[in-house]
Amino acid sequence: MAKERVFSGVQPTGNIHLGNYLGALKQFVELQDEAECLYCVVDMHAITVPQDPKELREHVLDVASLYMAVGLDPKKAILFVQSEVSGHAELGWILNCSSYTGELSRMTQFKAKNKGRESAPTGLFTYPVLMAADILLYDTNVVPVGNDQKQHIELCRDLALRVNHRFPDTFVVPEGRFMKSGARIMSLDDPTSKMSKSAENIHSRISLLDTDAKIKKSIMRATTDSDMTIRFDPENKPGVSNLLTIYSALSGMSIPEVEAKFDGAGYGDLKKSLVTVTQEALTPIRDRFDQIRHSSELDDILDDGAARARALAEPVLDRVKEHFGIGRLK
Ligand code: TYM
Repeated sequence: MAKERVFSGVQPTGNIHLGNYLGALKQFVELQDEAECLYCVVDMHAITVPQDPKELREHVLDVASLYMAVGLDPKKAILFVQSEVSGHAELGWILNCSSYTGELSRMTQFKAKNKGRESAPTGLFTYPVLMAADILLYDTNVVPVGNDQKQHIELCRDLALRVNHRFPDTFVVPEGRFMKSGARIMSLDDPTSKMSKSAENIHSRISLLDTDAKIKKSIMRATTDSDMTIRFDPENKPGVSNLLTIYSALSGMSIPEVEAKFDGAGYGDLKKSLVTVTQEALTPIRDRFDQIRHSSELDDILDDGAARARALAEPVLDRVKEHFGIGRLK
């Protein structure tokens, strides 16, 4: 049986954090041994909000290096940069013509980013359509992502089904894949909102490249509650539950095991132990990142990845164009 095809992407916007790692990157690594995986640095998505051009290019290489630092092997998975495969933009346009403003205006991420303004950057509005193109361009079966992308995956499926209804067998309809523990890591200072790259307070997140001192500071000042019992109860104890989730995901222990370990202990004990677990998990990632980021092979790996991705995208795009009647008869 042919291997399943997996696609996912991360935006090169700096501050790749524990949420990105536990919700997405860890799955990427798990899947590389069992499926045909493509992992993309989605630089065209990043420009839906203004970016400093120099920084953007640096961040593209940062994310590509982090992919490898967390354990992705370019011999097993295809690692590449979105803008280097023009099919993403082409299919993005074709899908724009099959999507509706109504469904796009219901996307919660768009609503949050646009903050209710009357007029929005068009790219921000059609962002999920480009994301659908990323996925559908490779006949993807499985899309490993965090919970915050659920609605975008649903839209992608809707678009694929809609096109298939009109032009049968155009797209493979993909499924999202979510971690049991880690699909939604919350902010450390406000555990009712998700950990995010763009939050102002740097202590709201732990970035994968944070120093040991920064890790310690961010965890020790994480918001908890005044109840003083270590119990997993996201509704009533969001801060403590978030720390338990991170502990469980990084240590490989189940949440009940972590609860049992800290039975009768104080929040300070949990936090101190979590500092150690986090430092131990991130130190090797930081070390590998430093080796890879300025190595001469990084460019070769991304060149090779783009060539392999283009080869997979071409027949799919040809099929789509044929079904839509785009271009001259062959
Ligand atoms: P991005 O760059 O915001 O995030 C990358 C991945 O990290 C996950 N994630 C989280 N998981 C758990 N807890 C959190 N607090 C958290 N924050 C982020 C995201 O769900 C994501 O999986 N639209 C995507 C990028 C994208 C994409 C794609 C993904 C573009 N095209 C095609 C999959 C397939 C995004 O902005 O991810």
